[in-house]
Amino acid sequence: MRIVTLPAPDDFEAWRDAARALAAAEVAPDDVVWQVGDTPADLFAVAAGGQAAAETGPGATFSVPRGFVDLARSVVLADDPERFALLYALLVRLRRQSGILADQADPLVRRLEGLAKAVRRDIHKMRAFLRFREVATDEDDSRYVAWFEPDHHIVRANAAFFVNRFASMRWSILTPEVSLHWDGKALSEGPGASRADAPEGDPVEEVWKTYYASIFNPARLKVGAMLKEMPRKYWKNMPETALVGELIAGAQARESGMIEQARAVSGDNSVAAWQALREEAMGCTRCPLYKPATQTVFGEGPVDAAMMVVGEQPGDQEDLAGRPFVGPAGQVFDRAIAAAEIDRARLYVTNAVKHFKYEQRGKRRIHAKPGTGEIEACRWWIEQERLLVRPQMTVALGATAARSLLGRTVTISRERGRTIALPNGGAAWITVHPSYLLRLPDPAQKEDEFARFVEDLRGAKAALG
Ligand code: URA
Repeated sequence: MRIVTLPAPDDFEAWRDAARALAAAEVAPDDVVWQVGDTPADLFAVAAGGQAAAETGPGATFSVPRGFVDLARSVVLADDPERFALLYALLVRLRRQSGILADQADPLVRRLEGLAKAVRRDIHKMRAFLRFREVATDEDDSRYVAWFEPDHHIVRANAAFFVNRFASMRWSILTPEVSLHWDGKALSEGPGASRADAPEGDPVEEVWKTYYASIFNPARLKVGAMLKEMPRKYWKNMPETALVGELIAGAQARESGMIEQARAVSGDNSVAAWQALREEAMGCTRCPLYKPATQTVFGEGPVDAAMMVVGEQPGDQEDLAGRPFVGPAGQVFDRAIAAAEIDRARLYVTNAVKHFKYEQRGKRRIHAKPGTGEIEACRWWIEQERLLVRPQMTVALGATAARSLLGRTVTISRERGRTIALPNGGAAWITVHPSYLLRLPDPAQKEDEFARFVEDLRGAKAALG
């Protein structure tokens, strides 16, 4: 029996080194016990990372598919004591059955995929629901502290995200297992903490409340989704939840009416299918854009909408709010649909790419255009949304949306403002993206182009019949 002692519960490299050495020495999965901690190794032990060379046998070098490495990186973070053994069992099988990862019916593959998915969701929750509170030191020396209770061992794996996002702040993230400290230059680690170590309410909460109330548009509120999205266990840590009741009150009647209407027309199944799809998209890793983004920004609106509107990708504000078209481009869009007498509550609004792509410049996150690969990777979601909603008309705002819908490069000026049949049913209608209007420097041109945009939207509505 080999006993492998890994130094930390989230140490992928240590697991990989040990697994490599064991597999090369053809050690059967049942002959290995995996443990974490500083328990002394026995005579037959493999000190993770230490004896790889000594263990190498005839089959010392072998490669595994990239998909396995990605899966293993996530699974190692799961709070499941069997994870290391299960991964090693899959690694051993992979050497005999190279295609096994694609076999979704295989119980081991399914179990590991399930663990990876749970880990990805936990990573997303930490990014979306962690809230810093300011601890007053003196005026030039503010520090921010957040308390978070993850379900899995994801804290270290998420550190780079918080360093990038809050690079200029000095902060600490306290969790039961480990604490992270960023002093503006370097990241350090400390022991786990308890909730009592983190401060309660303070002025930074006002910033969050103001921000949250300002992005909150009751006409677009999805109460069910919101409550689902924000698990109860995080509510107590989030200052804006103090506002939720108030904000919901004004929107509840409209919201429930909308859901009722969707149910009446499409039956419960479509709503449930949409919720399941959205849930699935929250853990999407089809392209690397999920890594720096706060969260997946999925489409929203009635599942029986006759008209779907597709934008390019979420912007900075959408990435934080988790909802499409709530920032500056969303305001232009709202003005234009109002001028075209289209009710946003009847539209299904989504984006071609579901994660915010940006470049960090100092404190600012600057929009970066999604590439063809990213658009292609995300097409799957838009196709699922269209299959579910089955809109008569899908309006593409700008070239990225048009490319995603038609699967080819589109010149907007040539193809805007007319019905284009889509191969999988329904029609497309192409127009400009509202941020094109925002970028126009000349006020007169801006006004003209806005009027053309409104005309296009009116045309799309008229084409519905
Ligand atoms: N631009 C888009 O294309 N979509 C949004 O959701 C926001 C800005």
